[in-house]
Amino acid sequence: MTEHGVAVVALDREQHRGAVDHRLFGSFVEHMGRCVYTGIYEPGHPSADAEGFRGDVSAFVRELGVTLVRYPGGNFVSGYDWRDGIGPREQRPRRLDLAWRSIETNQVGTDEFMSWAKARGVEPMLAVNLGTAGVLEAAALVEYCNVPEGTEWSERRRRNGALKPHEVKLWCLGNEMDGPWQTGHTTAERYGALAAEAAKAMRLVDPDIELVACGSSSHEMPTFGYWESTVLEAAGEHVDYISMHAYYEEHDGDRASFLASGASMDSFIEDVAATIDAVAARRRSKRSRKINISFDEWNVWYQSRYPGSEAMEIDIAGPRIEDQYSALDAVVVGDLLSSLINHSDRVKIACLAQLVNVIAPIMTEPGGAIWRQPTFHPFAAVASSARGHSLVTRVSSAELATRRYGDVPAVAASATHDPTTGDVAVFLTNRADHAVTVDLRHPGFDGWTITSARHIAADDRGPRNRETAPDVSLTPLGTSSSEDARSTTLALPPHSWTVLRAATASID
Ligand code: AHR
Repeated sequence: MTEHGVAVVALDREQHRGAVDHRLFGSFVEHMGRCVYTGIYEPGHPSADAEGFRGDVSAFVRELGVTLVRYPGGNFVSGYDWRDGIGPREQRPRRLDLAWRSIETNQVGTDEFMSWAKARGVEPMLAVNLGTAGVLEAAALVEYCNVPEGTEWSERRRRNGALKPHEVKLWCLGNEMDGPWQTGHTTAERYGALAAEAAKAMRLVDPDIELVACGSSSHEMPTFGYWESTVLEAAGEHVDYISMHAYYEEHDGDRASFLASGASMDSFIEDVAATIDAVAARRRSKRSRKINISFDEWNVWYQSRYPGSEAMEIDIAGPRIEDQYSALDAVVVGDLLSSLINHSDRVKIACLAQLVNVIAPIMTEPGGAIWRQPTFHPFAAVASSARGHSLVTRVSSAELATRRYGDVPAVAASATHDPTTGDVAVFLTNRADHAVTVDLRHPGFDGWTITSARHIAADDRGPRNRETAPDVSLTPLGTSSSEDARSTTLALPPHSWTVLRAATASID
């Protein structure tokens, strides 16, 4: 007989963590591989607009529901001089980018990116170089972007065609400065001191900006924890967020651990939140200065398959880490999104890394086709349906034994409720290798009516390429609601992720 599990997921309208921030559905455009060139930007492409941006990519970005985009790196930013990317294109230098061993032509820079972001309705999040540049260059970039007129850099922007300021609110103080691979890698003490000084100067240029200090590049970094507390001791009074980065992959066929990536993300976030609070308590910081989390790089990335930049021939916008994703990867991405929603009281910004071609939900062919990777679908589903409050879900399910993370719940859930519209969205992951029947209890939601239930299940077909990726999408899943509309039953297939949407009575 085939094994079949049961689980209970209970929703309570009154129990929530506050609003899900729209910035949780961000992504990331780095000058890396084909993310910018032949990704968002390809002047000769049949769909290109007057500025050279691919129209087909823009349509997919809108469909994905991305709200914010981090730019221009990533490791790239630690060798980048933003002044190379402004002014007449023909005068811009071709520079050797050490992070990804490629030649950066600088045909896209700050003004072009701003124009791209604005036209697509996404909020820009700019990173400054604190690896090989410093306080002066960072403050000058804020001046270039945000000062209306009358100063050297604001007038340069105006001469370059941007008469109005770009009004960039969100700024990252460097990237992964704890990582030995970072150009300009340094200690927590030195980075903390530099981040504080850069933050002070940038805020003197524009007091309204929000600042993100670099946290650890992963939970596994040997300096994890010490790095966060040291940086926050030094720079905590000057920043609003600390960053988190995490990439997940299936190691040596250990599928159970891979499916538990969301549980690993949960503990990473909880450890960082605890560290922020411990430093705040020690420093007797005011509660109004509460520091939150910017999870500004997360995804599935098969890093173990990446040969490393050293092994790469230097080229111009050649492919880098163009992972092809499977339906299993899409299930894990859905589960990671649930973890973010379940921590939306602390995680206010998150960026799926990256947006196009580089470990991305969107793939393009130079001069040609575009397609969605399997991971596109859970992101688009959550970005379009998670509205209002993040509900506290009570899950009671069997445990799943994993090699990397110990026992984790076999079923994971997150849910949102918009009190003004009554809309509810529930996201369910079945991490088990057998079907699980979920008894979803929603007694406090009057007028509960399911409007859709769709799912994706892992299969044995592995990574999908250009021909096979379009076959993958979310497909309908059967549900049955009780007569009194207080509960719904769903049979979750093995290794699957489901999104259920319901209309309920609004509270107004
Ligand atoms: O997203 C790819 C790379 O991963 C980024 O450049 C870096 O920040 C991280 O290590």
